[in-house]
Amino acid sequence: MGKEPSGEFEYSRGLEGVSAAISAMSRIDGDDGILIYRGIPIEIMAENSTFEEATYFLLFGNLPNKKELDDFTTEMKEYRKLTSEEIEWIKNFPKGGHPMDALKTCVSYMGMEEPPPPGEKQTLRGFTKNGKKIIARLPSFVAAFDRARNGKEILQPDNSLPHAANFLYMLHGEKPDEESAKILDLAFILHADHGMNASTFSTYVTSSTLSDIYSSIITGIGTLRGPLHGGANERVVAMLQQIGSPENAEDYIMKAIKEHKKIMGFGHRVYKAYDPRAKILKDYAKNLAGKEESKLVETAIKVEEIMMREVSKKGIFPNVDFYSGFAYKAIGIPTDLFTPIFAVSRVSGWVGHCIEYRQQNRIFRPRAIYNGPIDVEYTPMDERE
Ligand code: ACO
Repeated sequence: MGKEPSGEFEYSRGLEGVSAAISAMSRIDGDDGILIYRGIPIEIMAENSTFEEATYFLLFGNLPNKKELDDFTTEMKEYRKLTSEEIEWIKNFPKGGHPMDALKTCVSYMGMEEPPPPGEKQTLRGFTKNGKKIIARLPSFVAAFDRARNGKEILQPDNSLPHAANFLYMLHGEKPDEESAKILDLAFILHADHGMNASTFSTYVTSSTLSDIYSSIITGIGTLRGPLHGGANERVVAMLQQIGSPENAEDYIMKAIKEHKKIMGFGHRVYKAYDPRAKILKDYAKNLAGKEESKLVETAIKVEEIMMREVSKKGIFPNVDFYSGFAYKAIGIPTDLFTPIFAVSRVSGWVGHCIEYRQQNRIFRPRAIYNGPIDVEYTPMDERE
C-alpha cells in the first residue's frame, strides 16, 4: 500500500496483477499454456484460418461468412496501395534508420494525409475504417522502406495475392512459393493478439484520451520496439549466431545463467508454461529451415534443452520469439524486419482493442507514489556548491 496526501492506495510495480480493461478478444491461461481468440484455441486458428479471417474475427467478434470475408478482403486490398506522396517520402528516409522508426513515421504521415475535419468528433465507424486502413497498409510500408534503403524500386501491391503473400511479393519483387506464404500467414495469425500486454496497453492509454487511431498505433509500435517485448526475436537470432553450434551451447548458457543474464526468447510475464505459439512455430521452423538455418535450429533446440533442465522449474520456457526468427530468416526476411513484422501482425489486436475500449472508455489516470523530499529550500545559484 502506498500513501499520498489524499489517501492510501495500492502500488503494483509494472501494474502486475492489475486488470485495466474488460475485453472479449483473447484470453491467455499462463499456467497451462493456452491462448484463445474469442473462444477458439490458437492451434485451431493456426490450422484453419488466415490472417484476414482472424483479423475480421478479432475486430468484429464473429467468424465471417463467405460474403463478409470477401467484402472485408476486397476493402483491405483497396487500402494496401501506397500513395505517390508516401512513396516519395519513404524514398527520402535516412537509409540507416531503424525500420520500426520508419513504420512509426509512415503511420504518422498516413494520419496527416486524411486529417479529420476540424472540430468534428470522430465516429466509431470512422475510427474503425482508419484502423482497417492501417492494418492493410503497414506491410506495404515495411516492404517499401526495405526496398528503398537497398536502392530498389518500391513496388505497389499485387491484389491477386492474399495479405501475407503480397507482403513477400512487395519485399522481394517476386511472388512467393506456397510454403513461404503459408508460414508468414501463420506467424501473422499467431501474433495478431495477446490479451493485455505492454504495446496493447500503450495503445489503450493513447486511445483513452479520445486521440486518433493513428496516434494509438504509433504508440504501440514504439512500445513493441523494446527488447523486452517485440525486439527479442532479433536478439535470439544474434545470440544463436554467437553461440555458433550446439556443442557451444552448454558453456554459453551456463555462464549466462551464472551471471544472471537473461536468455532472449525465454520467459514471459504471463506464461509460466510452454507458450503455445512457440510450440506451433517450432514445428514449422524445423521443417522449413534451409542449410544455414538448420544449424541455428539445432543450436536452438540444444539451448532449449539446457534451459528446460536449468530454469523451467522457475516457470521459464521458450516464448513465441524463440522460434519465429528462423521462420522469418528461412523465407528471406532481414533480421531487422522481424519486429516490424510483429507490428504488422499485432496491429489487428491493437486496432481491435482500441475499438473495444472506445465503447467503455475512461481515460487512464494511474498515480505515482512520490518518494522525493518535501519542504526543500530553493538555494540561490551563487550559494550552491
Ligand atoms: N533468461 C534467464 N532467466 C530469466 C529469463 C530469461 N529469459 N527470464 C526471466 N528469468 C529469471 C529472472 O532472472 C528472475 O530470476 P530470479 O528470480 O532468480 O531473480 C526470474 O526469472 C523472474 O524474472 P522477471 O524478469 O521478474 O520475470 P518477468 O516475468 O517480469 O519477465 C520477461 C518477463 C520480461 C519477458 C523476461 O522473461 C525477459 O526479459 N525475457 C527475455 C526477453 C524476451 O524474450 N522477451 C520476449 C517476451 S515475449 C513477447 O513480448 C512477445
